[in-house]
Amino acid sequence: RGLSLSISAVAQNVATPEAQDALKRALAKKAVGLVKSGMVVGLGTGSTASLAIEELGRLIKQGKLKDVVAVGANYQSRVLARQFGVKTVDLNDINIIDIAFDGVDEVDFNKNLLKGGGAAHTMQKVVDSFAKECVILADQSKVVLQLGSTFPVPVEVLPAAISPVLRRLITLGGVPEIRSALRKDGPVITDLGNMVVDVSFPNGIPNPADLEMRINMIPGVVENGIVSGIATSVLVAIQDGDNVTVL
Ligand code: 5RP
Repeated sequence: RGLSLSISAVAQNVATPEAQDALKRALAKKAVGLVKSGMVVGLGTGSTASLAIEELGRLIKQGKLKDVVAVGANYQSRVLARQFGVKTVDLNDINIIDIAFDGVDEVDFNKNLLKGGGAAHTMQKVVDSFAKECVILADQSKVVLQLGSTFPVPVEVLPAAISPVLRRLITLGGVPEIRSALRKDGPVITDLGNMVVDVSFPNGIPNPADLEMRINMIPGVVENGIVSGIATSVLVAIQDGDNVTVL
């Protein structure tokens, strides 16, 4: 099933950063409410996923959740988990992830996602895809009619293959730009030691699953930020006057 939202909820900017934070907190609370004692939880990355990790730690500390362990998608989520008292385990040491939470940069009505704003999409896709339930947390600004409307597609690339990959991305209709590090000279380097290329598609992305596959078939590409067929549910937080509703 797709998202049951009205079209009027599309890409509604949130008035202030504080209001957006309130939406993200409401999402985190609702998502962590789905966790049961004894579960293995996958932890995504970004400001929304971080609030979910904090909430998970709070319930564990209060004794409301017992024997929960977590698999962090990257350094940031693992460090935060330990900081909030959530025990972490290695992905390679477990057989199943019961539920994973993750944020998103864009989500369409068919639950296709665009991720990678934080350059962490490769391992997020691994963790999210191994979860029985993958719950995506989106405030109202993230809902779009078509992926690529507000963000380019992040592509993680082996540094040694950057030039041929850029040329191949152009043949797919993309306009690639190597992501550079803020306040530093040089490119962003991911947790996995690779570069990130942000690719805009001026003609739109009518078929996300097809583009996801085509980009990943370019030798030298590690993973791209289009995620089709992995989200099992999407929680959307909407500001409604002074109230927050999570759908
Ligand atoms: C990082 C991601 C994040 O999930 C995405 O950027 C959303 O972040 P936030 O919750 O801070 O808005 O894909 O690579």
